[in-house]
Amino acid sequence: MAPPIPTPKEVVQIPLDWVEERSGLVSLHKYLLFRNVPKDISWLQTLGSALITTFMIQVVTGILLAMYYHPTADGAFESIRYITDEATLGWLVRGMHKWGSSMFVILLFLHMGRVFLMGSYKYPREMTWLTGAILFQLVMFMSLTGYLLVFDQRAYWASVVAININGTAPILGPFIAEFLKVGPEFSENTLSRFYSLHMLAVPGGIIAMIGLHLYLVIRLGVTSPPWSKHRAKAGDV
Ligand code: HEM
Repeated sequence: MAPPIPTPKEVVQIPLDWVEERSGLVSLHKYLLFRNVPKDISWLQTLGSALITTFMIQVVTGILLAMYYHPTADGAFESIRYITDEATLGWLVRGMHKWGSSMFVILLFLHMGRVFLMGSYKYPREMTWLTGAILFQLVMFMSLTGYLLVFDQRAYWASVVAININGTAPILGPFIAEFLKVGPEFSENTLSRFYSLHMLAVPGGIIAMIGLHLYLVIRLGVTSPPWSKHRAKAGDV
């Protein structure tokens, strides 16, 4: 007798049960997605999720750009020109990455403003704020390192000025400037260093920090707005 043909539901369910039994990963999505949130939250509480979405767009478009980009003094600008003018849909991918970066910074300020004005940084969410503050620094560093990569006159001189400003900071300034330049002078190695920081080190730090930030958000829940009747008041136990 031929074995019974599985129904479409079973075709999905059986592999999911297999993974769940061995790893518990399937039920993890319930913990991540199905959480109680205050009744009176609004669109303002979606800015964090908008940031995650924008970050994912930056990662995907960044990976596509890295497939064509050459981090060398002679090749950088030419590879950017090739991406924009000749690679299939290169203009779109580059445009999404460039405008996405501006969108990311705008959303970052809006999200930070929202949590500040609603007092969401107060006890017990101080660590959520602190991890957010580190994320803010990392995103600013992404902007700095990304700007040089086009390697035209504007990118070059803007980066020279930014590195020189860093160099004027007390005590650590000269070390930071020398680290960024890879030696006393701006050279081709500066471009390689910025590229490696921009596409490996800093995004790695951002991914780790977003993970910690979200863990804290899930653990502590989202705050009600200050005008909410349900919001905990100072002195509540
Ligand atoms: C890559 C950057 C960031 C991402 C992806 C991110 C993501 C999120 C998400 C998804 C939430 C929960 C939903 C919401 O309230 O919107 C959240 C909450 C929060 N974030 Fe961020 N965030 C980022 C940057 C920051 C920054 C720069 C700060 C402040 C310096 C910050 C402080 C907070 C705080 C205090 C909460 C808790 C809000 C509450 O409980 O109501 N975040 N974040």
